[in-house]
Amino acid sequence: MDRITVVGAGHVGATAAQRIAERELAREVVVVDILEGVPQGKALDQWESAPVEGFDTRVIGAQGYEETAGSGIYVVTAGLARKPGMSRDDLLRMNTEIIGGISEEIARHSPDSIIIMVTNPLDVMSYVAMKKTGFDRQRVVGMAGILDTARFRSFIALELNVSVQDIQALVLGGHGDSMVPIVSTVTVGGIPLTEMLAADRIEALVDRTRKGGGEIVSLLGTGSAYYAPSSAAVQMVEAIVRDKKRILPCAAWLEGEFGLDGIFLGVPCKLGSAGLEAVLEVPLTDGEKQALNASADAVRGTMELLSL
Ligand code: 2OP
Repeated sequence: MDRITVVGAGHVGATAAQRIAERELAREVVVVDILEGVPQGKALDQWESAPVEGFDTRVIGAQGYEETAGSGIYVVTAGLARKPGMSRDDLLRMNTEIIGGISEEIARHSPDSIIIMVTNPLDVMSYVAMKKTGFDRQRVVGMAGILDTARFRSFIALELNVSVQDIQALVLGGHGDSMVPIVSTVTVGGIPLTEMLAADRIEALVDRTRKGGGEIVSLLGTGSAYYAPSSAAVQMVEAIVRDKKRILPCAAWLEGEFGLDGIFLGVPCKLGSAGLEAVLEVPLTDGEKQALNASADAVRGTMELLSL
């Protein structure tokens, strides 16, 4: 790919840009931020690591979108974090405005691009981006299922003292407390997790996964996770750039799948060069179905607060 843009030069955006460059997923990665000097400084610093790390992907910082023209992918991480005195509704309104503005720039400068949404609440921000760009659902996909699944897998690996690589898991639903880890599908080297771990231990890991983002926030004191979120976003980038047809949990616009319609929600997605190439359905237990519907209700509740 010729060019990939990362919008937002904060921790998630900058780390994503670095991972993209180190894997040489494009000839050029552009980091855009409204903060003067910051994207340029971080980009230059990353580029200066290229001779040591051995990558040739140029890293460029910019304030505007001219430099991003013709990008194949935009990873959108820009937005505000909640500050004291700010309600969730205030935050939603402000991030909706920010993501709306960014989406218009993307549509203007790179009308054929694919958007990977990382800004929270990402299920809803994905919807804002789809509305504002007019892109179809193939070209707007939200990150989070991979992150939530990675957290679940990392906790299972610690618990069982086995390699993370041998753990397959699936976490569906919205990115929040209502997410739905599908325990029935979790395997360790092909063996069902339920054969290896007692139900109460599994439940404890599920609970830790649900609260995974909050656990990092409270440890850090200020700010939130960025190593794992950027890894997750870049795995999506790689699946698209290399047309890998990977099956990964991502937030996709549903059109009847799982009995849900007109909503972004975390589901198994096939990612390839066209972006979202398919949504795959999994058989769910009644309890899992109920949990997924409850998660959809939570996302819909936030969507209804939007005025677009
Ligand atoms: C996380 O889960 C904040 O969504 C981010 O870490």
